[in-house]
Amino acid sequence: MKVMAINGGPRKEWNTASMLKKVLEGSAAKGATTELVNLYDLDFQGCTSCFACKLKAGKSYGKCAMRDDLTPVLQRIEEADALVLGSPIYFGCVTGELRSMIERLLFQYLRYTKDHRTSVPHPIKTAWVYTTNCPEESYGNVGYDRYFKENEQLMRFLDSGDPETIFSAETLQFEDYSKVDSEMFDVDARQKRHEEIFPQDLQKAFALGTRLSTKK
Ligand SMILES: Cc1cc2nc3c(=O)[nH]c(=O)nc-3n(C[C@H](O)[C@H](O)[C@H](O)COP(=O)(O)O)c2cc1C
Repeated sequence: MKVMAINGGPRKEWNTASMLKKVLEGSAAKGATTELVNLYDLDFQGCTSCFACKLKAGKSYGKCAMRDDLTPVLQRIEEADALVLGSPIYFGCVTGELRSMIERLLFQYLRYTKDHRTSVPHPIKTAWVYTTNCPEESYGNVGYDRYFKENEQLMRFLDSGDPETIFSAETLQFEDYSKVDSEMFDVDARQKRHEEIFPQDLQKAFALGTRLSTKK
């Protein structure tokens, strides 16, 4: 059993990365092998619309033909049993890097059949991990609830079951709020939340990891 996590955020030790590491800890505790990929370490582009993956009888049929740092990562995802995509929310969406990676990952498997069938060789369990400044109570108003559902839907290209979603809201964003332009934040409340709620979010991440490492 192999569980892969993709950190779509630039920071390797902060909220998103911490959540993803906990997911993988949970998977490892159940005996899975795990891997964390930091997307910002890689030099790659999104889909260039070359359509080599759609060329009937072509040598790249069903496979992304682009060659860059993402190529071996896509191959390892294909061999994995579970995939966790993590991102901070930037202006209402996952990061541009994660979006570029998803284009490459999914388009190769999309078949232009009438029923949009997928050509993924075997089902991969999937989950999303988001971190946000936005409070959870506002997710409905700002459209995150719907956006998260749409992203679950997207992962049905890989996942024959139900993709999962977890998140951590109102994250601690800076080491020292006094040094940055941050008057809109209640710093004490943020710090308190980081000490009391964030550990609970990490526990949810660990539990997700244990679920992902269990065969369907
Ligand atoms: C460029 C940028 C845009 C952001 N946009 C949003 C946003 O639209 N909604 C939100 O809730 N948080 C937003 N944030 C805050 C981050 O999503 C949040 O602090 C997140 O937990 C950071 O993850 P990290 O600690 O793993 O880097 C933004 C942060 C940055 C740097």
